Amino acid sequence: MSKENIGIGFVGAGYIAHAHARALAAVPGARICAVCNPGEEKRLAFARTFGIARAYASIAEVLADPTVDAVVISTPNALHAEQTIAALAAGKHVFVEKPMACTVADAEAMVGAAQIRNRALMVGHMWRFDREARFIAESVETGAIGRIFRTTSYGIHADWGPDGWFTNRDLACGGAIADMGIHAIDTTRFLIGDPDPVRVYAHVGTHTGRVSEVDDTGIIFVEWKNGVVSTIEAGWWHPHMDGPEAATRLYGDGGYASLFPTFVRGGTPEERTEERPDFPTRQEHCDQHMYTAQMQEFAAAIRDGRSPRPGGAEGLMNTRIVAATYTAAQEHRVVEL
Ligand SMILES: NC(=O)c1ccc[n+]([C@@H]2O[C@H](COP(=O)([O-])OP(=O)(O)OC[C@H]3O[C@@H](n4cnc5c(N)ncnc54)[C@H](O)[C@@H]3O)[C@@H](O)[C@H]2O)c1
Repeated sequence: MSKENIGIGFVGAGYIAHAHARALAAVPGARICAVCNPGEEKRLAFARTFGIARAYASIAEVLADPTVDAVVISTPNALHAEQTIAALAAGKHVFVEKPMACTVADAEAMVGAAQIRNRALMVGHMWRFDREARFIAESVETGAIGRIFRTTSYGIHADWGPDGWFTNRDLACGGAIADMGIHAIDTTRFLIGDPDPVRVYAHVGTHTGRVSEVDDTGIIFVEWKNGVVSTIEAGWWHPHMDGPEAATRLYGDGGYASLFPTFVRGGTPEERTEERPDFPTRQEHCDQHMYTAQMQEFAAAIRDGRSPRPGGAEGLMNTRIVAATYTAAQEHRVVEL
């Protein structure tokens, strides 16, 4: 890409779009030049906050804007596939929030559209940019805990859950699993070297009395091609969580690693060693530094003409696992992948 500045258009100006806009302010050579959101007040306020020149009512206007090279899609889940495919067809690079799509067929169509148009497609699995997650991934890769045989990870909100479109089946396409479980699924894959899943079993339910159309509970069991077995827990409104979002416990034949709290325990049963680095204080658990690094990767991939990571492949794999989770639970059977 030869242009000096990458022109970015925002599709959706809600909660998470603010994190992406703050992130882009720290990315040299990227400039937000347009935003669209159906609600006028919201889009004008967003444009004012981030000094954006053009605020539109619809995505069609963003896609017709020649100053827009790439879009950041942060809309309700059910809109992701259609908006991504429209943006790619218009020749724009796309960053789309998780979950990338409601169905495997839609996710495949998105990946196909990016390939045909030769445009970047990135999916918002931002835990891969967390410095503590990266420390654990690097420790695992260098063999600090030996061969991993099992993991447990969490995507749970304790005493809280989202409302609005998140609890509407048609707009969200799923509940706690599509919203929070997917973070735990992707973080697990990232930390154990992105293996393919072999089989999935799950319980999915609605138990807390706080939502009706979608799930508030998921317990997922995944066997991976590299021999690791994972349990993944998802929830909204649970009275307790054993770890915050993306917290993961990894058990190896040479030790144990934990993400949140973050440390690596090696050595032998007779004499354990522990590495517990001093990380910068997090302003919040979902800390801005990972959203900033995520946008840096998006801009760098566009500039270098390469696929961003995590991209369509990672998003599609997570979509497959989420879909298998729902199928396994509905049909009370193990789903082979
Ligand atoms: N990675 C993360 O940490 C993280 C955190 C929160 C949300 N998310 C994801 O981001 C997405 C948005 O979530 P949110 O919390 O920002 O929701 P939100 O409700 O705060 O924002 C969504 C925005 O999209 C707008 N919108 C609706 N239809 C639109 C359309 N056709 N065109 C343009 N804009 C439209 C809404 O008016 C709203 O402003 C979801 O997919 C969610 O799963 C990711």
